[in-house]
Amino acid sequence: MIRYYFASTLISLSFVGVLHAQDGEQLYTLNCSACHGVDGKGANNGVFPPLAGSEWLEGNPKRAVSIVLKGLEGPIEVSGKPYNLAMPPHEAAMDDGTIAAIINYVFNAWGNSSPKVAKDVISVTRAEHEDRESPWTAADLLKIYPLPKQKTVLKDLTSRVYKGQWEKIPDFDKIQSENVEEEQNGIVSLSLTGMKDNFGVVWEASFVAPEDGSYEFYLQADDGARVILNSKMVCEVDGLGPATPDRSSTGKTDLTKGYNPIRIEYFENNRNQDIEIRWKKAGTKQWDWLTKKKKAQNKATNIPLTPSKDKTVIYRNFIEGTSPRAIGFGFPGGLNIAYSADHLTPELIWSGDFIDAGRHWTNRGQGNQPPSSKKVVTLANSRYLPKEARFKGYSLDPNGNPTFIVAIGNQTLRDSWKPGETGTLIRTLTVSGGESTLEIPLGETGLTESSSVTLLPDKSTDITYTLK
Ligand code: HEC
Repeated sequence: MIRYYFASTLISLSFVGVLHAQDGEQLYTLNCSACHGVDGKGANNGVFPPLAGSEWLEGNPKRAVSIVLKGLEGPIEVSGKPYNLAMPPHEAAMDDGTIAAIINYVFNAWGNSSPKVAKDVISVTRAEHEDRESPWTAADLLKIYPLPKQKTVLKDLTSRVYKGQWEKIPDFDKIQSENVEEEQNGIVSLSLTGMKDNFGVVWEASFVAPEDGSYEFYLQADDGARVILNSKMVCEVDGLGPATPDRSSTGKTDLTKGYNPIRIEYFENNRNQDIEIRWKKAGTKQWDWLTKKKKAQNKATNIPLTPSKDKTVIYRNFIEGTSPRAIGFGFPGGLNIAYSADHLTPELIWSGDFIDAGRHWTNRGQGNQPPSSKKVVTLANSRYLPKEARFKGYSLDPNGNPTFIVAIGNQTLRDSWKPGETGTLIRTLTVSGGESTLEIPLGETGLTESSSVTLLPDKSTDITYTLK
């Protein structure tokens, strides 16, 4: 236990040493992107919840800070989608400056825009929840920091749910509905229906127009939907298909100030369900929402996260009880390594799949996350560097390839890894800043030409690891 905390503190402090605490983007990439995605949309194609456009980042910033400090587990809804996973705590591993830098990056990346958070907010939040020992649940957190209410122009909103399989919007007046619900929050939402496939919904309400005039509506739906105001159809998307701009519909209608009856019809055949309705006064720019507000995504920052052809991926495991505390790297070309920050050496190398991260996230605290492959070779399993050696963190080159940095007295050891020809990794070792030579064991024979290497000061040595 003690060793875990010691090791984790060591690692986080060294990050700050190598990076600047202010570099929120890089700190985010190292600490959050494995789960939330470099693009903030949720890693593994949205298995993890998005931070881009998340309502959990709006309003009181202590909500997001609390999540980073303590972690979060159990059911939660983010941007209208349900999740039930676990996020590990970061309070032991990160100082206030690091958390502030990450939060401020997340608050303003990918189209998000929330006010800047001062470092004091982190220390105050830390103190306020000092006694809490378990991760948050969404419900607990919302009692303290409720989500800001979306203001809505819909009054007396009701929904009727219908069961049936259709390929076009049916005549709902001829079908018996399952139930009628009053939607207190005035937002048109599919998550409240609890339905998955083969159903329809009709919402009815009063649209409270702020003034007389012409109004413009925008609709997209998966599958079909229409918007009717004052018994006049304003927009419609019919048939089967996704909710995308090329299946959208816009329309204009004149409204009088005050109550105008609105009816929204919707059906879902199978797979994804979605509806998005926006409105604005004709001639103005700012859209308002009848469905849950979605934020515009900044497409320019769309960097792929999952293992790709030319980018190395990183796996950082914050989960307690893990030994050794390793940082994993999955290289393009199918070789992977795990570096131990307590033993100051790469410990494992394996070919094939990298790591099944999903497994660990859903079973918090279930021991080590094993590499996905059976062909794991041990490079080292104890510390061999001199006693005064200290881990100083790592840096990444533009392709995500790591250089691990260790200080040994007045010398610095740099240990870089990058993919070589298929089935190989190239390791470059350099010791600088002193006179001493350094003996480095290279692991099991057969992977490299020799089983150890002697580093001469200020001279780089390349070693090729070959693994089938
Ligand atoms: C090990 C994977 C993992 C890491 C690392 C991780 N998260 Fe999470 N995060 C999750 C999961 C899973 C949830 C949802 C938990 C649930 O289902 O209750 C979540 C939820 C959240 C939420 C609330 C929901 C949302 O999507 O807005 C925020 C905010 C958040 N994380 C921020 C961060 C930040 C900032 C970091 C980096 C310091 C981070 N997370 C690191 C897995 C992770």
